[in-house]
Amino acid sequence: MRHIGPRDHEIQEMLNILGVSTLDELINQTVPENIRLKQPLKLEDGLTERQYFRKILALASKNKVYNTYIGMGYYDTITPAVILRNVLENPVWYTSYTPYQAEISQGRLEALLNFQTMVCELTGMELANAGLLDEATAAAEAMIMMHNSRSRAKAKAGANIVWVDEKVWPQTLDVLMTRANPLGIELKVADWKNFKLDENTFGIIVQYPNSDGQIVDYSSLVKTAHENEIFVSVAADLLSLSILTPPGEWDADIVFGNSQRFGIPMGYGGPHAAFFASKDVFKRTMPGRIIGISKDAFGKRALRMALQTREQHIKREKATSNICTSQALLANMAGFYSVYHGPEGITQIATRIHCIAALLEKEISALGYTQLNTVYFDTIRFALPRYVKREDIEWLSLELEMNFRYFENGEVGLSIDETTNLDDINWIVEVFAKAANKPHGTVTEYPNVCTILPEFLRTSDFMQQEVFNKYRSETEMLRYIKKLEHKDISLTHSMIPLGSCTMKLNAATEMLPLSWIEFNGIHPFVPKNQARGYHEMMEELRRDLAEITGFADVSLQPNSGAAGEYAGLMVIRQYHISRGDDHRDVALIPSSAHGTNPASAVMAGMKVVVTPCDERGNIDVEALRQKAEEFKDTLSCFMVTYPSTHGVYESSITELCEIIHSHGGQVYMDGANMNAQVGLTNPSRIGADVCHLNLHKTFAIPHGGGGPGVGPICVAAHLVEFLPSHPVMNNGHVGITAVSAGPWGSASVLPITYGYIKMLGADGLKRASEIAILNANYIANALKDNYGVLYTGENGRVAHEMILESRHLKAASGISETDISKRLMDYGFHAPTLSFPVHGTLMVEPTESESKQELDRFIEAMNGIYDEIQLVASGQMDKEDNPLKNAPHTSDVVTADEWNHSYSRQTAVFPLTWLKENKYWPPVARVDDAFGDRNLVCTCEPIESYK
Ligand SMILES: Cc1ncc(COP(=O)(O)O)c(C=O)c1O
Repeated sequence: MRHIGPRDHEIQEMLNILGVSTLDELINQTVPENIRLKQPLKLEDGLTERQYFRKILALASKNKVYNTYIGMGYYDTITPAVILRNVLENPVWYTSYTPYQAEISQGRLEALLNFQTMVCELTGMELANAGLLDEATAAAEAMIMMHNSRSRAKAKAGANIVWVDEKVWPQTLDVLMTRANPLGIELKVADWKNFKLDENTFGIIVQYPNSDGQIVDYSSLVKTAHENEIFVSVAADLLSLSILTPPGEWDADIVFGNSQRFGIPMGYGGPHAAFFASKDVFKRTMPGRIIGISKDAFGKRALRMALQTREQHIKREKATSNICTSQALLANMAGFYSVYHGPEGITQIATRIHCIAALLEKEISALGYTQLNTVYFDTIRFALPRYVKREDIEWLSLELEMNFRYFENGEVGLSIDETTNLDDINWIVEVFAKAANKPHGTVTEYPNVCTILPEFLRTSDFMQQEVFNKYRSETEMLRYIKKLEHKDISLTHSMIPLGSCTMKLNAATEMLPLSWIEFNGIHPFVPKNQARGYHEMMEELRRDLAEITGFADVSLQPNSGAAGEYAGLMVIRQYHISRGDDHRDVALIPSSAHGTNPASAVMAGMKVVVTPCDERGNIDVEALRQKAEEFKDTLSCFMVTYPSTHGVYESSITELCEIIHSHGGQVYMDGANMNAQVGLTNPSRIGADVCHLNLHKTFAIPHGGGGPGVGPICVAAHLVEFLPSHPVMNNGHVGITAVSAGPWGSASVLPITYGYIKMLGADGLKRASEIAILNANYIANALKDNYGVLYTGENGRVAHEMILESRHLKAASGISETDISKRLMDYGFHAPTLSFPVHGTLMVEPTESESKQELDRFIEAMNGIYDEIQLVASGQMDKEDNPLKNAPHTSDVVTADEWNHSYSRQTAVFPLTWLKENKYWPPVARVDDAFGDRNLVCTCEPIESYK
């Protein structure tokens, strides 16, 4: 497998430059002896791509794809092939990063703006974010946002009750329970008609249509709630809102749900993008990313991520959500689905679904069954006649490769979806007929009868914006997707040197199975014997990840790094509770930690105590000892990233872990930097008890422009019993309630990591870590004189990433780290990580996948920029009018008749000769962030603005 960038002779050249003769020598100088693994990983040898292909094909064939009418938040859907091929299978879309650098992300920003607009239009709300992890966690975010937005009087009175209708999805309820408890929120579950909305209640959550499939008129409930200063959140089926009155029109405050039905395969539970919409008043407390419209330096329309001060990067322990990586790729796809189908197409799909359900009601009722939903969209629910056995329905349907939904009280449910056709209708009827020993006719025509009462039907227009009404032919759609794609930088252009993000190769062979129906066509709640291939793969993956981390077991449920942090901390919390140590609630977190660490700790009900780092960037051992001593009675855990976010292997790590353990605490290791550990050391070896892994960093799952992420947690033996369970499926764990909607999280992307491990094998994985370290040290060595490397280990080496100084350059020239980042775009590169974890610096992580020639190109670009900075510092270039401050330069600017700058057009856009051969053109100039936040616009402009 061709995962490693540099070739053998180049590796030797690089080692020579670093003054060492072998890779082992470099690793010995870099990774402290006391934490090195003494034995190789006990994993199989790496497979060739061909061998792996056979293996994964064999696993795929063990999954059986049935027609599934279970519903419960997951429905079969048709991913338009133009979207499948050009978005899901397209590395420009799946290898790009979260659009923090707006100028090189206009394509995916527009795709996300389409998603937000579609969500606002369908829900009837004013504001929507760019997607959340899943429907259940979106429910939790809604609950927390309502709690944080309580009126002053309610907050003062300590109102802490949220009422939840008993007819929300069981997985939603389970995650709500998980999330409410540590925050002191009291969750009351009842029939919504029996809610007691008193002064202690701050919010309510209902589902529309509810979990039975019944459509309920909640307008009087909303009115009463609002009279009592109580917020209303509604879980909704997005597709149904094209024909049902949207919750925004009956004054709901928050509407959320799953956008999976918009062309995203079920994938055995995920990944899918949740949607989250609200009234405008929540804009400063809304979780997740919000894309807004702003303008560039020349006043041209430009998109960007708005209101970033809401995010955990800035707010840390004051954050109200820990969402970081989310589900951008899936939100892009759902947005494209709505662009392709438009309002009329979506209405048609929804109407057809309803009419098929209505026809089935008629046909099946005629056989003696009683349909129980009086008003429904896609779901019908039958009580069986006395003479029909439920078991008969079950085996007859399985015989025809169909899955129905079986309620605990013996009723049988069917949820119709976009794919249901005439054959399916007849097979369904056949099952009910045979079970009742009755004859049945054949349906030969699609039905056209709507049974929804007029008062529930939508009368308002939606999605009238140009983008939803323009691209109907495949050719046009293809060109629109390509138009957006050409605006962005991804790994298909150049290395993305983002420190802490590990933008490595996402190999094509690893990605292929994602498009196979055997992996993506399976509903998460089908009988497990239909998903044998999945279970075999997941069992093996769990074993391999346990071996890599040195731990006893793994939960695959969390669907991002931050979700993993939360899950791991909740496991620690439960461990303490099980020992009668309920009072242990202090989390010690170093000042260098990623913002999600303190934010997750607060979500898990912990009190954050920040511990300092010394002048070399290491955690101050004495200060930690003191804090551990001070909080010894209440210490819950210590959260540590290793190697540190400063890019250094601290040899004190084992001592730090011992200090925590000796004071009764547990050690949580943030696995974001596992790319510097695999095969060399592991979290168990350094003394941790739990870690999460970012499979979307170290283990080759692509970033997708900001998700999907997968953040499994790995735990030591004493914590296995607390790993998250699932209310619907037995996922092998019996501990805390669920942290995600899916029993196995984002199952359909797990084959990527599985393939990565199987193809690299024990030796290849270790080599990947070694080359990641080599590549980082090669860059550090090349740039240390001009920029300076902020922190190094005891032997002057960096780990797999480094922090480059730029503060002295700013002092001498006025050129900031932001100017450097924007200028890199003119050189065709994505910026390094900016100002994290040290303000005013650039953090660079090359990964093992980048070749020597690419590293050299990056070094040349960085040194070219350094030379330009020197010209500014020495006065040879103007302090304001220079290519750095004016970067990035667009084609508009350099082809304009006028050119009034003190440097040439050539310098502006072709500062190095190789750029002439392969030039990336930023579509907009520098984006005005402040303007966008002051004038918040988060949906596509209305049709009038195009006239
Ligand atoms: C050190 C560290 N911890 C945690 C996270 C959060 O992971 P995620 O974005 O998957 O939620 C990140 C993300 O960049 C990180 O760099």
